[in-house]
Amino acid sequence: MQDIEIKVNGRPMRTTVAVDETLVDVLRQRLGVVEVKNGCGQGDCGACTVLLDGEAVNSCLTLAVQADGRQVTTTRGLGTAEDPHPLQTAFIEHGAVQCGFCSSGMILSAASLLQQNAAPTRDEIREGISGNLCRCTGYTKIVDAIDEAAKAGSSEERSAR
Ligand code: FES
Ligand code: FES
Repeated sequence: MQDIEIKVNGRPMRTTVAVDETLVDVLRQRLGVVEVKNGCGQGDCGACTVLLDGEAVNSCLTLAVQADGRQVTTTRGLGTAEDPHPLQTAFIEHGAVQCGFCSSGMILSAASLLQQNAAPTRDEIREGISGNLCRCTGYTKIVDAIDEAAKAGSSEERSAR
């Protein structure tokens, strides 16, 4: 077992983990960060995506000990109901959230994309979210939402709170 400290959305959280525990399990089961979803558990669906020091990673393929001393951002760190991130607003306005299971990971992958490329083409958006599966929307509404958020200037990084 190993003691770790992860800053989740700017808030330091400490726990003790087995060295083979995945980040998604530690976030959800030990730290109560349940907005991060565990879908396939093997790197195929992207539902577990978080930003680790600003970079999108599959938290089911990341060991919790690898996040020790680092910053994890979830959708709650991007924006709140009172002060949503432009991506969150655009997803709602475009009906890009249906069952919502993929939405957290999808939005974080989109945020990562827009940090690297503030004005992506629709093909680049599709490529940017290619690791995130959605069983509900057919992707068109999701691409529309990311396209609109990009045009609204959502590339500006908002620090985790
Ligand atoms: S739960 Fe991690 S990629 Fe599916
Ligand atoms: S909204 Fe249901 S899986 Fe994407």
